Amino acid sequence: MSVDLAVVPVAGRGTRLLPLTKSQPKEMLPVGRKPVVQYVVEELSRCGLSRLLFVTGPGKTAIENHFDIDAELIANLRETGKEELLAELAFEREDIEYFYTRQRRQLGLGHAVLCSRAVVGNQPFVVALGDSIIGLNAASRVVALMIEQFCTSGADAVVALEEVPPSEVVHYGIAQPKGAAGEVFELADLIEKPSAEEAPGNLAVAARYVFSSAIFDCLAATRPGKGGEIQLTDAIRMLIEQGRRVLGVRLGSNEKRFDIGNFESYFLAFAEFALADPHLSGTLRRKLAAMLDPTGG
Ligand code: G1P
Repeated sequence: MSVDLAVVPVAGRGTRLLPLTKSQPKEMLPVGRKPVVQYVVEELSRCGLSRLLFVTGPGKTAIENHFDIDAELIANLRETGKEELLAELAFEREDIEYFYTRQRRQLGLGHAVLCSRAVVGNQPFVVALGDSIIGLNAASRVVALMIEQFCTSGADAVVALEEVPPSEVVHYGIAQPKGAAGEVFELADLIEKPSAEEAPGNLAVAARYVFSSAIFDCLAATRPGKGGEIQLTDAIRMLIEQGRRVLGVRLGSNEKRFDIGNFESYFLAFAEFALADPHLSGTLRRKLAAMLDPTGG
């Protein structure tokens, strides 16, 4: 069995980032030199995914434009002697097929994934949230590891997990391991955005999943949960209740998750990518150090 199809939900309105996201998809916000979703696509491509299905919504056409081959721009760069900039468009030529479908009503992440059912059919597939970068500068191989676990374990779902402080469990799907939690382990339960008291631990779902098509029947049967939305976490919980195997894989130490969902995490992500920029890192560090400590002491 191989997995070469990924569903990338990008339909959320990004209301926590207004006014930035009023007419601009949050997935197109710049982090360092690239828009968020380009990092996601490059990560998936490196992990062997060659067919990407975006689940889009209103105001998201900039994403489709970004991954088109822009022959006019290429010709213009050639004609104006700016050939060196062509390298910046190399991602356009990645060996990937792009598909787009729309979530026509904003009913939550679970519903967005359910919108891909007619295209995905009975194939296993990856889900990668389009507003989360995993790993600085293309370091993450976690999706490849998750696919390997999926293919060898007979599990119906594999989810990426990271530890978060107890004060932040309320923002995530929180996993309860079955027994000891090593690098890869089976899950006993998952709860979407629990309070600190309800949370069965601090292992948070981290924006990457692998599923068999069994998830679709669960999604179709999932009623609105937290926030009145159809939650992907609740459908995974249903898989566990049906006696199916669900595995968790921890993000590695070089696989930090950058969440572009609110201003604090967006600013931090931008700062970290800018500070790691191969051309500007030194200058930025000097200037920022001077800004942070104007006395130079
Ligand atoms: C979604 C999921 C949540 C997960 C989080 C980060 O929440 O519902 O379970 O932990 O992504 O991957 P959102 O950030 O869309 O509110």
